[in-house]
Amino acid sequence: MSQKTLLMGRVLSFDRSPFDGDPTEAASLSEAVLVEEGKVVAMGAADDLKASHPDAAIRDVGDKLVMAGFVDPHVHYPQTAMIASWGKRLIDWLNSYTFPEEMKFTDPGYAAEIAERYLDLTAAHGTTTMCSFCTIHPESVDAFFTAARKRGQRVVAGKTCMDRNAPEGLRDTAQTAYDQSAALLEKWHGVDRLSYAITPRFSPTSTPDQLEAMGALWAEHPHCLMQTHLSEQTDEIEWVRSLFPEARDYLDTYEKFGLLGKNGVYGHVIHLEPRERDRLREVDASLIHCPTSNTFIGSGLFDMNGLMRDGHRIGLATDTGGGSSFSMLRTMAAAYEIGQLRGRPLHPAQLLWLGTVGSARSLHMDDCIGNIAPGMEADLIVVNLGSTPAIAQRTARAEDIWEAVFPTIMMGDDRAISEVWIAGRPV
Ligand code: GUN
Ligand code: ZN
Repeated sequence: MSQKTLLMGRVLSFDRSPFDGDPTEAASLSEAVLVEEGKVVAMGAADDLKASHPDAAIRDVGDKLVMAGFVDPHVHYPQTAMIASWGKRLIDWLNSYTFPEEMKFTDPGYAAEIAERYLDLTAAHGTTTMCSFCTIHPESVDAFFTAARKRGQRVVAGKTCMDRNAPEGLRDTAQTAYDQSAALLEKWHGVDRLSYAITPRFSPTSTPDQLEAMGALWAEHPHCLMQTHLSEQTDEIEWVRSLFPEARDYLDTYEKFGLLGKNGVYGHVIHLEPRERDRLREVDASLIHCPTSNTFIGSGLFDMNGLMRDGHRIGLATDTGGGSSFSMLRTMAAAYEIGQLRGRPLHPAQLLWLGTVGSARSLHMDDCIGNIAPGMEADLIVVNLGSTPAIAQRTARAEDIWEAVFPTIMMGDDRAISEVWIAGRPV
């Protein structure tokens, strides 16, 4: 007989989006969640679940919050060791710090070391699923999937393709990008909990031939995600305009090569033209807000309010290591601050939803991760809402769950994450 576990605490699950109607009413609290064979079986009153499942092992976390693990839909695991590199804006930052670091992934040993380090760090911060760019080296994809598979994690990743405007040693070609991506997709997509994402880095580092090859590969595998960057910094947009003089706008450089679609996941999307917004909405593409990155690299303020109002599919991500943190709590705090600068404070329910359900939706995985509900995969975290004296003294005054959670969102880090469960097992 398989082992059942009854995890008792303050179990938070979302019933609907807190962006539709009163955010305070979007979630429910229950006393316990029953887990079996890596899945959530039921939530409810602790006594009832104990009575109906007397064989279940009991884990009682008291008044700590039990919620879905965080989902981080835009990261660069190879940038782990160069996070927090000082003083550059996007293009200079790529050339000065990022490309030299990514060059090191020709060494499979280094790739394996950083993949393990990245997954250790993110697990400590409560992130159970992420969608990562790798480097141009197929070995960097193997290293990441191998490490994630060993841990039983649901992850998405892809070989980052670049055939121009990158240093020697960090460029492939249209043909090798196609061939290597196709081989990696074949090797890894659908193995255990792993998914492959077709990954052209961004228009400036791909020739039209390479973008066309990526579009052709996506057309052959339309169920796969395709991830890239879009409209992050104004200098970048100018550069795209000079590289693709015939394109209507930045999005058009993807659209005309078959790289716009519902399974497209576009990072940053800050300085969008009205046509780009309309097209992204029409195809229901995913837009990923990377707030710590957008302030750290000096990119701009994402229009959460306007894009949500228009019905866009939006996720929240760290963008490690352009982003300055591995923590989705810190990322929610930055999203709150950017919301304030744009005149619209995000409610704690909206922030938690973005970092779980919203991000899972952006990866089209909200049927299996990002929330606690019967049948969902049991990727769970236990959050201590008084993890430091500063947070605890503020939480002590809270009159409801949202006031209790907000100090941890604003001031919390890995110390707030007491336990992480992946596929029903504590790690
Ligand atoms: N645009 C193209 N590559 C990158 C990257 O690695 N990080 C960020 N933030 N933006 C990019
Ligand atoms: Zn990125």
